[in-house]
Amino acid sequence: MDDNAAFLQRLEALRAGVDRRLAELAPCAATAPDRLADAARYALLAPGKRFRPMVTLLAAAEFGAPEGAALDVACAFEMIHAASLILDDLPAMDDAGLRRGLPTIHRAYDEATAILAGVGLLNHAYAVIAAAPDLPGNLRAELSARAARAVGFSGLIAGQARDLFDRDRARDLSALERLNHEKTGVLIIAAAEGGALVAGAPQAAVEAMGVFARHIGLAFQIRDDLIDAQDCAESAGKDVGKDAGMTTIVSALGVAGARRAMDEHLGKAETALARVGAGALLGRYVGGFFAGRKAAA
Ligand code: IPE
Ligand code: IPE
Ligand code: MG
Ligand code: MG
Ligand code: MG
Repeated sequence: MDDNAAFLQRLEALRAGVDRRLAELAPCAATAPDRLADAARYALLAPGKRFRPMVTLLAAAEFGAPEGAALDVACAFEMIHAASLILDDLPAMDDAGLRRGLPTIHRAYDEATAILAGVGLLNHAYAVIAAAPDLPGNLRAELSARAARAVGFSGLIAGQARDLFDRDRARDLSALERLNHEKTGVLIIAAAEGGALVAGAPQAAVEAMGVFARHIGLAFQIRDDLIDAQDCAESAGKDVGKDAGMTTIVSALGVAGARRAMDEHLGKAETALARVGAGALLGRYVGGFFAGRKAAA
């Protein structure tokens, strides 16, 4: 097997490991009311790309964490992400009908169940980090505090609020960057830094992972906005055209300008990784993801 095939196989094994563990950690009929557990599993276990847990696992591996050490923490970031998608899709927010190729949870179940499943997954994520096996207590406390900050009033929730409140107003580039950083970047930063922290990486390396992930987060939202502007619902697996009428990096810079801005962020991310000699796994995965190679995405 050549080196690239072996790498892709390793990514696939990591992703399958995340899916297995998510299924174990997710609420079930024994731990939550039937319908609620069902709905939470429907949204969480639906086929997403698992980008955030992959970033955590690969960051941990870059800095020498033992296999599996970061798995529960990685899964917790996916739970937070799934919760954010549930809330983002609600009629009061983006009012979306399709997610991950399936009807959105509030359409498949109902709005109240969707809200409870989203808030439930969010809370469950912190409990999962706080109980992560084989990690020292102070590290578990640090990681749950970081995750909570990433979600809270200066994190994802702030970004979602700005996205909704400012929707019909023109936004300048720095406002857009701030919004994208908050709604998408901060969780990816927490996921990357979390992996490095699990591995016991030195402070400077954790910070470099933060810089890397900051640019990856910004590039990620530009990529998402390009999908919204250019793809069809069938290939995106979710509603598209939802951003019409609001200012995004794509509407502000045009498609070519947005692609250039995305590439600039990817270049800066790569530089940050190279500074700590951490590109072999993470840089390769992220490079493949943005290049759109199916097996790596
Ligand atoms: C979509 O995230 C929402 C954004 C933050 C842009 P993903 O593109 O990672 O969605 P899934 O997890 O693969 O469904
Ligand atoms: C939302 O951005 C980011 C989240 C925190 C969920 P979008 O609203 O553009 O995400 P999609 O396009 O619905 O996945
Ligand atoms: Mg949204
Ligand atoms: Mg949306
Ligand atoms: Mg979008």
